[in-house]
This record gives sequence, C-alpha cells and structure tokens, in this order.
Amino acid sequence: MIRNIALSAAATVTLVVTGVSAFATETTVHIEDVTFPYEGPFGTFDRNQLQRGLQVYTEVCSACHGLKFVPIRTLADEGGPQLPEDQVRAYAAGLSVNDEASNPKLIDPATGSARALIPSDNFPANYTTGAPDLSLMAKARAGFHGPYGLGLSQLFRGMGGPEYIHAILTGYTGEEKEEAGSVFYENHAFSTGWIKMPPPLSDDQVTYADGTAATVDQMSMDVSAFLMWTAEPHMMERKETGFKAVFFLIIFASLLYLTNKRIWAKVKGKKIS
Ligand code: HEC
Repeated sequence: MIRNIALSAAATVTLVVTGVSAFATETTVHIEDVTFPYEGPFGTFDRNQLQRGLQVYTEVCSACHGLKFVPIRTLADEGGPQLPEDQVRAYAAGLSVNDEASNPKLIDPATGSARALIPSDNFPANYTTGAPDLSLMAKARAGFHGPYGLGLSQLFRGMGGPEYIHAILTGYTGEEKEEAGSVFYENHAFSTGWIKMPPPLSDDQVTYADGTAATVDQMSMDVSAFLMWTAEPHMMERKETGFKAVFFLIIFASLLYLTNKRIWAKVKGKKIS
C-alpha cells in the first residue's frame, strides 16, 4: 500500500516535471506582441491595411497558399478591404485557377478547361507545394501561452494568431539545411525551429499604392491583419453586439433588482414607496 502511494507520487512528480519542461520548450519560441488597429474592445479593421495585406497575399503568398474558404465577393463588404464592386470583379477575373481538378464547377463545359473566376466564387485553393490553406490560419495558431497553462497571457493580449504569422514571416535567421531531400529554413517562431517555407518576403517586394514603405515588417503586419479579417470577417459586428448585450443586461439587472425589492417589501415589513 505504502509502496503504491510512493509509486503514484513518483509518477505524479514525473508528470508535473514533464509538463513543466514541455511548457519550457514552448516558451523558447518567442512571439513578439504587435499592436494591430483591430485590438481591444473598440478596435476596428483598418481598411487601408487590409487592402495592403490583400496585395501582399495576392502578389506573394498566393503562389503557394490558397484561401479556399473566403468568397471573393466579401472583398467589397463593409468592415473588410471594401473594394469597389468593379474592382472586385476585375480582381476575381485576374486570379489564376489551379484547383479545377478538385473543384469541377470551375470547368467551363464549352472549353473543358478552367473558366475565369467571378465574385461569387471563393478564392482558389492551392495544392501545388503542400502549403496549408491560410483562410483560417490566424485563428488556428496561438502566439501567446501560459503562464503554466493558465491562459492569463491570452486573456490580456489575445490569442496572438496574427502575431504568430507576423513572427513567422520576420523570424528567419538566414540559415538553411537539407534533410531527406527537402530544404528547411531556420525560423525562431516555428515550433521545431526549422520550417519548409522559404523566406517569402524581402524589402520592397511589393509597391503599395498608398505610398507606405514596403519593409518586411510592414508587409508582415499588413498580411497578418488581412488574414485576421479572412479568419474572422465579422469581428467588428461581434464586438458591437457584445456591447449591446452588456448594456441590455445592465438595464435588465437593475429592473430585476428593483422588482425583487418591491416583491419582498411586505414580508420584510418595509414601506412600499
Ligand atoms: C514558395 C512557397 C510559399 C510562399 C510564397 C509562402 N509560403 Fe507560407 N508556407 C509554405 C510551406 C511549404 C509551408 C509549410 C511549412 C512547414 O510546415 O514546414 C508554409 C507554411 C506557412 C504558415 C504556417 C506555419 C505553421 O505554423 O504551420 C504560414 C502562417 C504561412 N506559411 C504564411 C505565409 C504568408 C503570409 C505568405 C506570404 C507573405 C507565405 N506563407 C508565402 C510555402 C510558401
């Protein structure tokens, strides 16, 4: 009996120790906290930033990554990049389709090959390099953890999905190695330290129409904000609804309190005013 207790105590200690060391390896990956305009209870997406992010995605990332869950028409939505309708049509027509094999509705029956995209289509998927789809990436990754699994860091700073994407794009050290026929690039933000994605950005890779300097840091911020929008396009409405709900609950709770007081007034021998 005593031996059993001793054994299970030892097992618990090992568990705790492995838990702590797992946490320790997690924290060696440093994700820098970046300030985005949509953060906080009153934050909103910055339309210009979303447009710049769309440009970076289109000119750089779309070569390998798809956005297959995002309908192209939403680019015109309020609260998003808000492109004018004619620009959305032109943008859709200019996208190149490479996933018609898995999406037969993109094949034109007259020609047998892919037709031009229209705003009611989704962005194309991209299966060419095995890169993951980016539609929901900003919500699928967490930049902040802990302390000790409590999640307090996330409570104060958010999940950090876009911060994670920014950190990946700016976290390359320049080192690379070849392993089993694939080239890996050293990246401080990636969990294993070595990522298969070649550094996608370099200074002045895109030319922004609004004159913003296209540094790697700036492009990473813009594309991360854009990917936050693709992952949660209705964030601003969500916050607004939250405010209305809390406001309503405050009024409703006060009315309930006063009603309750009146109902019990007789029992408690108080005068009803
Ligand atoms: C040359 C092709 C290529 C380009 C261009 C490219 N990527 Fe990638 N990306 C990849 C591959 C391949 C992976 C998978 C890496 C792995 O799992 O090691 C990846 C993975 C990722 C990941 C996921 C990391 C994770 O945690 O799993 C993110 C985020 C990402 N890319 C963002 C971007 C963004 C943003 C751009 C544009 C600025 C971009 N990529 C451009 C090939 C590319």
